[in-house]
Amino acid sequence: MMTPFEWNFPTKLTYGAGRVKEVGQIAAEYGKKAMIATYEKGSALDPVIETVEASLRDAGLDVVVFTGIEPNPRAQTIDRAIEIFKAEECDIVIALGGGSVIDGSKYIAATAFSGGQSWDYVVLGDRVPREYTGSFPIISVPTISAAGSESNAGGVIQNAETNEKSFSRSPYRIPKVAIVDPEILKSVPMRLTKDSCIDIFSHLVEHYLSCPEESEFADRMTEGMILCLMDNFDKIIQDLDDIEVRGQLALCSIFGWSGFQALGRLGCIPMHSIEMPLSAHYDLPHGRGMVVVIPAYLEVMADAVPHRFAKLARRCFGVTEQDDLKASKLLSVKVTEWFKRTESFLTLSDVGIPTDKFELMADDVVRMFPGGEPETTSGPRPVTKAEIVKVYELCK
Ligand SMILES: [Fe+2]
Repeated sequence: MMTPFEWNFPTKLTYGAGRVKEVGQIAAEYGKKAMIATYEKGSALDPVIETVEASLRDAGLDVVVFTGIEPNPRAQTIDRAIEIFKAEECDIVIALGGGSVIDGSKYIAATAFSGGQSWDYVVLGDRVPREYTGSFPIISVPTISAAGSESNAGGVIQNAETNEKSFSRSPYRIPKVAIVDPEILKSVPMRLTKDSCIDIFSHLVEHYLSCPEESEFADRMTEGMILCLMDNFDKIIQDLDDIEVRGQLALCSIFGWSGFQALGRLGCIPMHSIEMPLSAHYDLPHGRGMVVVIPAYLEVMADAVPHRFAKLARRCFGVTEQDDLKASKLLSVKVTEWFKRTESFLTLSDVGIPTDKFELMADDVVRMFPGGEPETTSGPRPVTKAEIVKVYELCK
């Protein structure tokens, strides 16, 4: 039976090659003094930062450029940006980057509006997070197709002092406009492109595999996007400059984490919870962490909701096995084959992560994202600390 839901998609999508030049004209509808939040200069994005700044100035806006948002955005960096935003009396944020920059920008815009510090607002165990009272407007210009942050309410940041990484969601922070320019997306190199596609896959399957409820509409939408993603993944690794394919992947990113893919069967995000300590303790980029975690998670949790795992295995991975439990166990096998065929598969040792913090990281997961029972995190059923350690063990 479907669970009750609410959904709307308030972000205006502006898609097309070269359309980043319209950012000034678009931003002028929302503000007068813009903070461009982006990565450290010195990358292929430098000319795009210049284009965005010129477009904003041409449209009559004043501009402050804040560079230095990290691939795992640090609360401490975001707080520095918030101080500058307030001191400069900015009134709009242009988030120019991947999920980390857009997530960070959400905390800048909403915390500058609502007060306090960015970390006050994240989910952290039993603590009641502070709530935003509103947000300055955000325009996102995604430079990577992965997080879906360009048009949703979520945001993940890292506390560099405590090695914790956590998230919050707020409708105030949903970007007003996302300018999706596939010319910009061409700059993403091979390994990051692979990691990003697999991050999109993880978003598509989190709710699918963690909610026992059935919504055929949501399942079919998700399966369609997974098939589209896999097709276009094969194409993009043949030609990183193909802007048509970049455009298709951009849509998978946007709608894969929009809520649309989970209408009527909203679940939880155990794979992301288990990945977060890898990024927090070792500064591993999130997408790469998902590459490592997904096959192991699918193996350990296959018996939790076998009918859901089996459905995905049959509909997207060619499994014909009729027994649900047997078919559910084949999902991990098939996903691993896909990762290996595309030369995407990575282990913890491939990414330089040692084995000595598995207990500590599993403690982090159950403490920061508690499930319904003690020493667990939320999943298709409560995922125990021992199961989380087992996932890390399988990733070695
Ligand atoms: Fe993700």
